[in-house]
Amino acid sequence: MEIVIQRFDPDVDTKPYLKSYEVDPEKFSGVMLLDALEHIKEQDPTLAFRRSCGGGVCGSDGMSINGRNGLACVTQLSALPNKVTLYPLPGMPVIRDLIVDLTRFYKQYESVKPWLVGAETVQDTERLQTKDERAKLDGLYECILCACCTTACPSFWWNPDDFAGPAALLWACRFIQDSRDVTQAERLQALEGLYALYRCRSIMNCTSVCPKSLNPAAAISEIRRDMVKTSFALDPAEDRSAVEHKGG
Ligand code: SF4
Ligand code: SF4
Ligand code: FES
Repeated sequence: MEIVIQRFDPDVDTKPYLKSYEVDPEKFSGVMLLDALEHIKEQDPTLAFRRSCGGGVCGSDGMSINGRNGLACVTQLSALPNKVTLYPLPGMPVIRDLIVDLTRFYKQYESVKPWLVGAETVQDTERLQTKDERAKLDGLYECILCACCTTACPSFWWNPDDFAGPAALLWACRFIQDSRDVTQAERLQALEGLYALYRCRSIMNCTSVCPKSLNPAAAISEIRRDMVKTSFALDPAEDRSAVEHKGG
């Protein structure tokens, strides 16, 4: 099996180049692409890539695998063809080999205030949710911030500083949907305008590559629906609670 990897060390190379490595598929049957990369690194310690958990939890080994973004640690080697070509995640500056600079991605994440803003009144008890309220967060909270979705999104490639990107918008939706958060109206208002949310063209690349089977494109649609709902309400918070009450 041949694994071709884009190599680039800014201290040595003037431009990226492809380097080919041979891996014995028999020796690696039943293992993941990340294991093969570890093996290659033993032969060639100059190869650089990120990894941590090795089990699809930390989100650090996102890369382009035969043209499709994914995590090396959950990609079965046996599911890949005999020739595999690996590039760093697209649309991000390359630090070295398969390692990209995710500063812009984290700024997008920070821009949606990914934390709960509860009522200021101090209470002696936990802030409880009904089962239905809690269920609304399923499919939203599991994101591991691997950046596979955002770096697969053409709208992000074209507007990297203005479009929030699918991962950040999934997180925005997670907090807009949270019944304990008191800033839904502000969160929606912050996403108004031509770019932060509305640059999404529903191409669905994000959803098709997510290694956690999440659906950022659906989350973006959900935010749009919430915006429409609140735009007809004098008090968005009241409108929202009325809609939720009706729903059950
Ligand atoms: S659905 Fe929207 S966010 Fe997802 S890849 Fe397409 S344009 Fe990007
Ligand atoms: S939504 Fe999926 S692809 Fe996007 S950052 Fe989260 S886990 Fe990764
Ligand atoms: S190494 Fe942690 S998600 Fe792959």
